[in-house]
Amino acid sequence: MRVAMIGTGYVGLVSGTCFADFGHIVTCIDKDASKIDALNNGQIPIYEPGLQDLVAKNVEENRLFFTTDPAQAIKEADAVFIAVGTPTRRGDGHADLSYVYAAAEEIAGLVDGFTVVVTKSTVPVGTGDEVEAIIQRTRPDADVAVVSNPEFLREGAAINDFKRPDRVVVGTENDQAVEVMQELYRPLYLNETPIIVTKRRTSELIKYAANAFLAVKITFINEIADLCEKVGANVQEVSRGIGLDNRIGSKFLHAGPGYGGSCFPKDTLALSKIAADAGSDLKIVDSVIEVNSDRKKKMAQKVIDFMGGDVQGKTVALLGLAFKPNTDDMREAPSIDIVQKLQEAGALIRAYDPAGMEEASRMMSDVLFCDGPYHAIENADVAVIVTEWDQFRALDLDRVKTLLKAPKIVDLRNIYKADYMSSRGFEYTSVGRSY
Ligand code: UDX
Repeated sequence: MRVAMIGTGYVGLVSGTCFADFGHIVTCIDKDASKIDALNNGQIPIYEPGLQDLVAKNVEENRLFFTTDPAQAIKEADAVFIAVGTPTRRGDGHADLSYVYAAAEEIAGLVDGFTVVVTKSTVPVGTGDEVEAIIQRTRPDADVAVVSNPEFLREGAAINDFKRPDRVVVGTENDQAVEVMQELYRPLYLNETPIIVTKRRTSELIKYAANAFLAVKITFINEIADLCEKVGANVQEVSRGIGLDNRIGSKFLHAGPGYGGSCFPKDTLALSKIAADAGSDLKIVDSVIEVNSDRKKKMAQKVIDFMGGDVQGKTVALLGLAFKPNTDDMREAPSIDIVQKLQEAGALIRAYDPAGMEEASRMMSDVLFCDGPYHAIENADVAVIVTEWDQFRALDLDRVKTLLKAPKIVDLRNIYKADYMSSRGFEYTSVGRSY
């Protein structure tokens, strides 16, 4: 099949590359000429393990192309994917759909013969209807079916998530479009991946409901973690104790500094707006948004409390800045609030992140970005583990002890054990673990 992928951001680039690896001919299109030039020179603009090699392989085998000119690829395409950004609209929390609608208009002018137009971007319920209306308005004779096909890719594990998904969701009532989608995802049939075909609006809602549910799960365990601290319990054991119940499941029950990233914060907010517009209550999601945003700030207070209530003039070393490991993505990362609040309280910040420092340097000021974890903690009054990168899991603790001014560690990801840390001479605190 021939695929045109509009947008070479995270979702477009990963999806386009994986479709090419499935054997389809894929052209990725972006208006940003410097991005396309870079991709044509083998440079990948995002940090995603395995992606560089997969792009190189498929380019080499003539299945993957990058261009700024959409005309030919869209004309020849069996399916055109819209994978452009849907940022939060300034001021009101709604998803900004201007890029999606602009793509729809562009597609309308260029399609030739029956073409499936697929929204892969996360879009509010009813966006598919609007995309269809735009195409019909712009080109009444266009033979297109507009399909919703949400992505469920996790940054850092996106290739595996694309190639071995738990499910594929296809939202359309057009049989011919279902056939095209089934053909595109045919390699997954071997693994018997469930393909859920549903109405378009349901498919659009599935994406938001999935992300919101995961955000609820994380926020729930984070509040339970706070309770554990108050009543002498251990949240990791609570997670295990409840997660082994198949109805609950053990994933996304790790307590931490609050969720961040490009999806959960944006999508929970958008879902809340969708519900409000529809006159339907979503009180759980609303309170999750509030609790999570408070939590990020509370984490700075946790550090301040650990330091005896005062960090004025103290040096705090942050280990990890990205919103999670294996990504350079800093969007909505808890580290942003933590740094800001600690600085307001008079702390000096040193920091190290294996991938996120370039991004972080654009979002934070007066932070000393360091060459490695040991450089970051040099002469610091306390080390704070913010992101659970593997390289922080096995630090040389003797070295850490000699480098820090005093052996104090705040572990916001629970990657060390309290009794072990105290046996090694550390004053140590973590999240939701009284022992
Ligand atoms: C998420 C969804 O998982 C994915 O399906 C969707 O398409 C996009 O959004 P991603 O943002 O890459 O993916 O990150 P994810 O691994 O889900 O983590 C999100 C945030 O939750 C991170 O800040 C992470 O640290 C936090 N988290 C996750 C927890 O605090 N505890 C957990 O148990 C799991």
